[in-house]
Amino acid sequence: MTIGDCRVDFPITRDLIYLDSAATSLTPKPVVQAMVEYDLRYRANVGRGMHRLAAVATHRYRDARDAIRSFIGGEVGTLAVARNTTEAIGAVAAGLPWQRGDRVVTTMLEHHSNLLPWLRLRERGVAVDIIRPDAAGNLDLADLEAAVRDDTRLVAVTHASNVLGTVLPVGEIAGICRDRGARLLVDGAQSVPHLPVDVAAMGCDYFCFSGHKMLGPTGTGGLWMLGSDLEPLFVGGGAVESVTDGGYTLAPGEQRYEAGTPPIAGTIGLARAAAYLRDIGMDTVRRHEERLCARLIDGLAVLDGVTVAGPDADTERIGVVSFTVEGMHPHEVAQILDEAAAVLVRSGHHCCQPLMEHLGLPEGTVRASTYIYTTKEEIDTLIATVEEISRRMI
Ligand code: ALA
Repeated sequence: MTIGDCRVDFPITRDLIYLDSAATSLTPKPVVQAMVEYDLRYRANVGRGMHRLAAVATHRYRDARDAIRSFIGGEVGTLAVARNTTEAIGAVAAGLPWQRGDRVVTTMLEHHSNLLPWLRLRERGVAVDIIRPDAAGNLDLADLEAAVRDDTRLVAVTHASNVLGTVLPVGEIAGICRDRGARLLVDGAQSVPHLPVDVAAMGCDYFCFSGHKMLGPTGTGGLWMLGSDLEPLFVGGGAVESVTDGGYTLAPGEQRYEAGTPPIAGTIGLARAAAYLRDIGMDTVRRHEERLCARLIDGLAVLDGVTVAGPDADTERIGVVSFTVEGMHPHEVAQILDEAAAVLVRSGHHCCQPLMEHLGLPEGTVRASTYIYTTKEEIDTLIATVEEISRRMI
C-alpha cells in the first residue's frame, strides 16, 4: 500500500480536514473490520476456557499482543496491555518500590500524564526535579545530566512533545541513566505513531504508548518493560499461577499484568493498526510528515501576526505545529477554522499547562497535527484560512 492509497480507508477525510491527530488519530476500515470480526465470528474470553472459540480467541489475542510488542522492537521485554499512555505511566508510578529520599527527574515538556504521577509521589517523600527547555522548546542535555544523581531512581521523559513536536534524544538520555544507575521511562504517545521506534536499541526500561493515536481503537495501549519486576496495578483472575486461602503466586511475564478480561477486540484492532502502518512503512510515514510539517511551518511563519512556537522545520521533530494569532484567543481561532473551512485543530493548553506558562503562552496555542492521511492541499487550506483570520477577513 502507498501512502496516497490510504485515504479511502478513512471516510471522515471526505468531508473534513482533520488536523488533530495528536489528540487522536482516525481509524482505517481494516482496523474496524478486525474488531468486528472478533465480535461476530470468534468472540470468547481468553486464557480461560477450553472450548473451540476460547482457543481461537486466545490464540488471536496473544498473537496480537506479540505483534504490538514487535512493532516497537520490544521482543526482549514484556508488553502489558494498558488502556492508554496515562494508565501505563501510572502503573510504573504505582508499581515501583519507592523509598523516601528517592528522586525522579522529568522535564517541563511533559504532558500532564507524565508529570502528575511524579508530583503525587512527593507525598511519599520522593523529590521531583523538572528540567526546563529553552524558548524554542529545546532541552539542554547537560541540564538533564547534571540533575541525574546517585539517588535518582527514575528519569521520565517524553519521546516527542505533543505541543511543540520536539523529538528528544532518548538514546543519549538512556546512556546517562545507565551511567548513573537510574531507570528510564519514555512516554511514546506521540512517537510510536509517527517515527520508527525500537525500544531495545533506545535502551529504556519502560515505554508507554496509546493505541488510539496510531490508528488503533480508543482504550488500548501498552506498557513495555525490559523486565517484569514491576508490581502489577491490579491482581485477580487471569494473573495468577496458583491461589490458596493463604496467598497467591503471580503468573510469569505478560500474564501477571492481565487481571480481569483484557480489551480483546481492542488489542486485535491495535495489532491490525500496527500491521497497517508496517505495510506503509514507518520511514515512509516519517518522510511524508516531515514534508507536510515543513510546508506548514514555512507557510505559517511568514504570516503577519502569526507566531509559530517550537523548533524549526529542519530540527528533528514530528508533525505537530503550535501557533498563535496576535490578539486572538486560540479557542477563537480554532472555532473559526472549523466553521469557515472545516479544518479541525486543537487549541488551549494541550494538557501541558506548566510548559505554556514557561513559554509565556498562558492561553495556550492553536495546534495542527498531521498523519498519514493528511495531504499538502489540506495544509494549504489551513494556511490560507489562518491568513484570512489574521487579517480579520473572516
Ligand atoms: N494527549 C493528547 C493531545 O495532546 C490528548 O491532544
